[in-house]
Amino acid sequence: MLSENPVRSVNVGIVGLGNVGTGAMSILAGNAAQIEAKLGFPLRVRTVCSRSVASKELPAGLAGVKRTADWRDVVNDPDVDVICELIGGTGVAHELIEAAIAAGKSVVTANKELMALQGAAIWEKAIAAGINLAMEASVAGGIPIHTVLREGISGDRIQALYGILNGTSNYILTEIEKHGTAFETVLAEAQRLGYAEADPSADIDGFDARSKLALLSALAFGEQIAPTDIYTEGIRRLTPLDFQYAHKLGHTIRLLCAARETDEGLLLSVRPALIPSETILASVQGAYNAIWVRGEYGADTFYYGRGAGPHPTGVAVVSDLMRVAREIRSGSPERVSPFAHERLGAYKPIPITLQRRAWYLRFRVHDRPGIIAALANILAGKNVSLDAVLQLPSDSKDNLPFVITLETTSEQDVRDAVARMATLDFLTEPPLVLPMETSL
Ligand SMILES: NC(=O)c1ccc[n+]([C@@H]2O[C@H](COP(=O)([O-])OP(=O)(O)OC[C@H]3O[C@@H](n4cnc5c(N)ncnc54)[C@H](OP(=O)(O)O)[C@@H]3O)[C@@H](O)[C@H]2O)c1
Repeated sequence: MLSENPVRSVNVGIVGLGNVGTGAMSILAGNAAQIEAKLGFPLRVRTVCSRSVASKELPAGLAGVKRTADWRDVVNDPDVDVICELIGGTGVAHELIEAAIAAGKSVVTANKELMALQGAAIWEKAIAAGINLAMEASVAGGIPIHTVLREGISGDRIQALYGILNGTSNYILTEIEKHGTAFETVLAEAQRLGYAEADPSADIDGFDARSKLALLSALAFGEQIAPTDIYTEGIRRLTPLDFQYAHKLGHTIRLLCAARETDEGLLLSVRPALIPSETILASVQGAYNAIWVRGEYGADTFYYGRGAGPHPTGVAVVSDLMRVAREIRSGSPERVSPFAHERLGAYKPIPITLQRRAWYLRFRVHDRPGIIAALANILAGKNVSLDAVLQLPSDSKDNLPFVITLETTSEQDVRDAVARMATLDFLTEPPLVLPMETSL
């Protein structure tokens, strides 16, 4: 028998019915009973929206919900308490979130790009309007890293955060590593399998990971960090040969997102780097993501899981909806923006050229006598000490590869030395320069 006083639901409007929207809907429908049991009240999808909503197939439990192609209908629906922005991008998504806040509706978003660029301003508006805002799904899909940084280890003082935050790049790198296949071939296969976009630039040039690192370092260090504060380099130049040399050196190569506190300020980078083979990050394979956080008091913690996909990301969205729904029901405590610790002012981004690292330099040359001496001479001119020279057997005298590793030295000195090498006529391409993260 139905209760005479059914507990009123918290009602949700979903805008964007692509990968994430579909995943979130299927969880809200398929796991409705358990979600209600955990909350003590139902979470009900009231309206769904996408441009082609008429042709979308909805999960069985949601067959009767309202459909619209105009997101304004969702914002203006008096029965919708929380709006999920699952469109992506910085145009309509921004307009929608601002309209929702102005209408006094809480917002859940998966939008890393928008939150990395505008998150601080959006949070301020949300707090002023007294609504709830949640963005767990915006970084590392299925890994609840926002909650970790905002709640789980918020009592610690973060010193460093390292991550593998782009599943597509990690899939490509680990395929090159395992099978010795060329970058272009692996990329084409990733596109065929749907792991990489037709335009893969955001993933392989590091921009997607950069937005995620901007958000995570803002949460970890409390600064307002712009994506442009982060030195960014992609993975296009890596070859199977680089993995062979890295292995010889006891390392592997990953697109490493790094945010480190130093006495001078914060060093922020997204770039391919050599990491020791025995470090836990080196075991992250395929499209998985991982984040390693080092705190002053709690030392090291590590978080691992699927960084994308309808269901892992959908879980993050639905869990955010549950958190927001609880806050709507119980009355929100005073909220503080995750970008608010700027009051501390302790961590300012500084140029990456100030960092000191060991380095991996891979050359390709027309072979002839005196090459190593010429390179060593330029390095010595910058007070850079050569650590080792490695040369694996090769048939090609016209395009002969070899590697020089450098002892710990500043990035600026290495860049200056490499710039001087550009004039050497025996080089067949500019040297590939990668930092060696030996301290991981
Ligand atoms: N994919 C992942 O695994 C993943 C992981 C973490 C975070 N995210 C983030 O989640 C968000 C969504 O990603 P996604 O992969 O789900 O994108 P998607 O598959 O491209 O889906 C986007 C959806 O938004 C709808 N849409 C676009 N413009 C619209 C408009 N003006 N009005 C109404 N609907 C509109 C599209 O409608 P039509 O289909 O009708 O055109 C589509 O249903 C992005 O911010 C992304 O960065 C994604």
